[in-house]
Amino acid sequence: MKNPYGWITRSLDTLHRAHRYRAVQSLEGTGPVITLNGQLLINFASNDYLGLAGDLRLAEAAIAAIKTYGTSSTGSRLLSGHRPLHRDLEQAIAQLKQTEDALVFSSGYLANLGTIAALVGSKDLILADQYNHSSLRNGAALSGAAIAEYRHCDLIDLRQNLEAQRDRYRRCLLLTDSVFSMDGDLCPLPELLDLAAEYDCMVLVDEAHATGVLGATGAGSVEHWGCTSDR
Ligand SMILES: Cc1ncc(COP(=O)(O)O)c(C=O)c1O
Repeated sequence: MKNPYGWITRSLDTLHRAHRYRAVQSLEGTGPVITLNGQLLINFASNDYLGLAGDLRLAEAAIAAIKTYGTSSTGSRLLSGHRPLHRDLEQAIAQLKQTEDALVFSSGYLANLGTIAALVGSKDLILADQYNHSSLRNGAALSGAAIAEYRHCDLIDLRQNLEAQRDRYRRCLLLTDSVFSMDGDLCPLPELLDLAAEYDCMVLVDEAHATGVLGATGAGSVEHWGCTSDR
């Protein structure tokens, strides 16, 4: 008998044999020290750089908000609207980032999927750093745009790609992490913005690891480089 799901077991076997199988683990604790399988460990894998996950003031504010607004907005925002609290959050983010406005998604991954597909489509070109986070890569694929990768933070390679390809497309979007999620290095944003201006490109910079960390007010790498008004 045919089994259309048989490939799953075979793929899992292949992953196990290649030692590439990944499973999620349960851990306890919210601070820098966590318990994993009964062992106390320092958590170097966390992105909770500011320790906000365990901050009591935030926990209390979240509880108060749930008591007032409940635990769900009850439907898709476009159809059933949002609570005033969501708009307050977006306006506070826009103020921090010194942008015209902000739009909140329920995760960083979804922000990248939603934003990239809204900016470019099948007539357009995406030029992406080869070390970009997987959400940028998947967002790029979902958009239907042509995708070319340039070598990590390599402005010469980026320029060569622009020179060779930009003219063939309607819009062009440069995609990059600001602080790269695996290596922790910083993209050369001012030079990237100069190239973008020269070749008439939009720039999407993912500040997941820079917001709250870089810049005089914690607004991220855009503030760190003094590029806040550069758009
Ligand atoms: C650079 C970058 N962008 C996006 C994401 C996705 O964010 P989230 O975990 O909120 O979906 C991550 C996750 O760590 C990230 O490192």
